[in-house]
Amino acid sequence: MYPPTNPFIVGDVIPPEAPFCERIAERQELEMHIRKSRNVVIWGHRRFGKTSLVFRVARDSNVFTGTLVNCVFFGASSPQEVVRRMQRGIWNALTATQKTLEWFKGLRYFRPRVDPDTSSPGGFSIGIEATRDGPWANALEEAIGKLHSDLPRPVLVIFDEFQAIAQLKEGAEIEGLLREQIQHRPAQVSYIFIGSQRGMLQAMFNDKHRPFFQQAQAIEIERLAKDQVISYLTNTFADFQGFLAEEQAERLFEACHGHPYAMQAIAAALWDQTEAGTPVTNKAVEEAIRLAVDREMQKVRPWWARLRKGDRLLLEACAREGSFAPYSRDVAARYGLSPSGIRKSIENLVELDPRLELIETGKQRKIQFVDPLEAICIRRLSEGDSEPVGRLMKR
Ligand SMILES: Nc1ncnc2c1ncn2[C@@H]1O[C@H](COP(=O)(O)OP(=O)(O)O)[C@@H](O)[C@H]1O
Ligand SMILES: [Mg+2]
Repeated sequence: MYPPTNPFIVGDVIPPEAPFCERIAERQELEMHIRKSRNVVIWGHRRFGKTSLVFRVARDSNVFTGTLVNCVFFGASSPQEVVRRMQRGIWNALTATQKTLEWFKGLRYFRPRVDPDTSSPGGFSIGIEATRDGPWANALEEAIGKLHSDLPRPVLVIFDEFQAIAQLKEGAEIEGLLREQIQHRPAQVSYIFIGSQRGMLQAMFNDKHRPFFQQAQAIEIERLAKDQVISYLTNTFADFQGFLAEEQAERLFEACHGHPYAMQAIAAALWDQTEAGTPVTNKAVEEAIRLAVDREMQKVRPWWARLRKGDRLLLEACAREGSFAPYSRDVAARYGLSPSGIRKSIENLVELDPRLELIETGKQRKIQFVDPLEAICIRRLSEGDSEPVGRLMKR
C-alpha cells in the first residue's frame, strides 16, 4: 500500500527523511567546504533546491555537528529588518539552556522577552525583542560579534536569499559592514551565502570593487540531469510500492526540463492520481502534467495580474515561441515588443525576479522560461483562460 502522505514535497524545504534527488557533485563540494570552515556562495534559480541541499548537508551529523544559524533575508525591506532576521537566526540557534539572561548580558540591541502563552493556562513563551535605540549599523555589529564569540564552535551561518540585501538602498553600506566583520571571523566560523539572482550575486562576489570580492567559494545549482531524474523517480515510486516505467519517467523529465520544483509538482500529482499499489498508467502521467499546471495556475494568476504590460508581452512571446533570440525583429513585431521595452523587461524578468533566463551559446542568445509549468500557465492566460480545466481525482 502507498503511505497515506505523498512523498513528493512541493515547494517547502525538503526535510531530511523525505525523498530527494541527489546532487552528488555539488553535495561533495559543499561538504568539503563546510568541513574546512570555508565561506561558500551558492546560486541558482528559485526553486532549484538550494536551501534544501544546504540543509541536507549541514544537518548531516557526519558532516557538521556544531551550531547552525539560519538567517533568511527574503522580503527584508530595511536594514533594521536585516538585523532582526540575524537576531532571530541567532535566537533560534540557541539551545534551551543558552536562552538565559546571562547570555544576553551586555547586549544593547536585542533581549529575550517573556510573554504569557494563551494556549496553556499559567504557561509562558519566550522570544526576542529588539530594543529600538541606536543606529542599525551598531545593532548589526553587535549581532555578528555575538555570533563570532559566544556560540559553541564550529559555527555555520546561513545567509539565505542574500540578494535581498543588495536590493536595499543601504545595500552597499550593509555589504561593507558585513564584509568588515566577516573578514575578521574567528577560526571555525564560516558562512554560506545563498541567492537566487545570479547576476546580482555574481556582481557581489566577482566584482573587484564590491566588498565581498573573492570572499567565498562558488557553487552553482543547475537543472537536474535526465538520468538523475529518471532514477530518482523510478526509485521513489518503487520504494513506496509503486511502479513507474522508465519511459514514463522520461516523459516526466521532458515535461519538467530538469526543473526540480516542476518535477516534484508533476510527480506529486501523479502520486495523487494513482491507485494504491497499482502501476502508473500513461494516461495518468498526462493527467498529472495537466493537474500540476492547474495547481501552478493558482500561484501564477495573481502574479500575472500585477505585471507591467511590457513584461506580459515578453512572457507571452516566450510562452508561445518556446525560446527565441530576444532582439529578433520578426518576433518583436509579432508580439508588439520594442527594443527598449525588451531591455526593461529583461531587467525585471531575468535579473530582478528571474522567471526567464538568457542562454548564450557562442554568439547566439536566446531567452526562455526557467520553469516549463509556468510557461504553460502563461500560454493559457494569454489565450484568455480564466479557470483551471483539470479536475482533482481522488485516490
Ligand atoms: N534535489 C531535489 N529533489 C527533489 N525535489 C527538489 C530538489 N530540489 C528542489 N526540489 C523541489 O523544489 C522545491 C523548492 O526547494 P528549495 O530548496 O526551497 O529551493 P530554493 O531554495 O532553490 O528556492 C522543493 O520543495 C521541491 O519541490
Ligand atoms: Mg531557498
